[in-house]
Amino acid sequence: MILKTGALLALMAAIFVADTLTRYEIAVAVFYILAILAASALLPARITRLLTVLAVLLTLASFALTRSGAYDTGLVNLAISLLAIGITAHLALKAVAARAAAERTQNRLFHIARATSLGEMAASIAHEVNQPLAAIATSASACQRWLDQMPPNIDRARQAARRMEDDAHRASEVIARIRAVTQAHKTAPQAVAPAHAIHETLALHAHELEHEQVHLLLDLPDSLPAVHADPILLQQVLGNLVGNALDGLRQVPPSERTLRIAVHAGGNGFAEFTVEDSGAGIGPDETPLLFDPFWTTKDSGAGLGLAIARSIVTAHGGEIAAHPAPGRGARLVFRLPVSKEASHD
Ligand SMILES: Nc1ncnc2c1ncn2[C@@H]1O[C@H](COP(=O)(O)OP(=O)(O)O)[C@@H](O)[C@H]1O
Ligand SMILES: [Mg+2]
Repeated sequence: MILKTGALLALMAAIFVADTLTRYEIAVAVFYILAILAASALLPARITRLLTVLAVLLTLASFALTRSGAYDTGLVNLAISLLAIGITAHLALKAVAARAAAERTQNRLFHIARATSLGEMAASIAHEVNQPLAAIATSASACQRWLDQMPPNIDRARQAARRMEDDAHRASEVIARIRAVTQAHKTAPQAVAPAHAIHETLALHAHELEHEQVHLLLDLPDSLPAVHADPILLQQVLGNLVGNALDGLRQVPPSERTLRIAVHAGGNGFAEFTVEDSGAGIGPDETPLLFDPFWTTKDSGAGLGLAIARSIVTAHGGEIAAHPAPGRGARLVFRLPVSKEASHD
C-alpha cells in the first residue's frame, strides 16, 4: 500500500512540476484524475480522498506559481481542472462504495444460503455423527469386558481403545466440516481440486445416498485442473444440486435411482461440472423458471437452492444451466474458470 501511494505521489509531483513550468493555456492539471482513478481502484477510500485534496491544492499552487501565458485562459483551465478532479473523485468513490455494498449483500446471501442448506442436511449430519458415537460406546463396553477378565486381556482392550480413537476422529471431522460450511466468512477464491470439493459434498450426503439406495457414478479424471473458487461456496453449489437430485430421485423406485457427477476440462479455460440424476426430471415449461428465487414445486421447498447456486457461479465468473436429462431426470451443468495456480489439496 505504501508503495502504491508512493508511486501515485510521484506521479502527482511530476504533474505538479509540468503544470507549474508550462504556460497557463496548457491544463496539465487534468492529469491528476489519472492518479485519483488509480487510487480509487488500488487504495482505501480515505487515501483517495486525501490525494484528491492534495490534487486540488497542487493545482492551485501551480496556478499561483505559473509565470507565463494568458492569465484569462489559465483561469478557465483552472476551473475546468478543478471541476474534473472533483467530479472524478466523487464518481470513483461512489463506484467503490457501490461495489463494497454489493459484495456485503452477496456475502450475507451466501451466509443465509449456507444456513438454509444446513437445515436440509440436518438429518444426514445427525446420522454421520451418531454412527461414530454409537461405535465408541460399543468399543468402550468391549474394552471394559477385556479389562474385567482374569487375567485382563490387555491386547484386545488396547485394540478397542484404538477403535474408539478412530471413531472419535471421524466424529470430529464431521463436526469440522459442518463448522466450515456454517461459518460466515469472506469469499476467498483459491485453487480448489474439483474432486476434493465433490467428495466433501458427498460426505455430507453419505447417509441419504445410502438410505435412498442411490447408485452413484463419479466421472472425475485424474488430470482435472484446479478451479478458481471459494471452496465452501463451491460445496454449497454442489450441495444444492445434489440435494435437488435426491429430491427428484425419491420419486422413482430405488432400482432406478442413479446420480452421476462428472467434471471435465473444457479446454477453454473452464472446467465443466455435471450433476445428473435419473429422478422425476424437469419439464420443458419449468426449465426457464428453475433459477428464479422462491420458485419451487416442493411442499417444504424454499425455492432458493438454484437461485443461490446461480449467484455463486456467476460471482465466480461462470455459468450454470439446467437441461432435462437424456432419457429421464435432470442434468445441471455449471462452469467455473480454471485456476492459474496449483490446487492446495
Ligand atoms: N434435479 C432436479 N430434478 C427435478 N426437479 C428439479 C431438480 N432440480 C431442481 N428442480 C426443480 O427446481 C425447483 C427449484 O429448485 P431449488 O431452487 O433448489 O428450490 P427447492 O429445492 O427449495 O424447491 C424445484 O422445486 C424443482 O421443481
Ligand atoms: Mg433445492
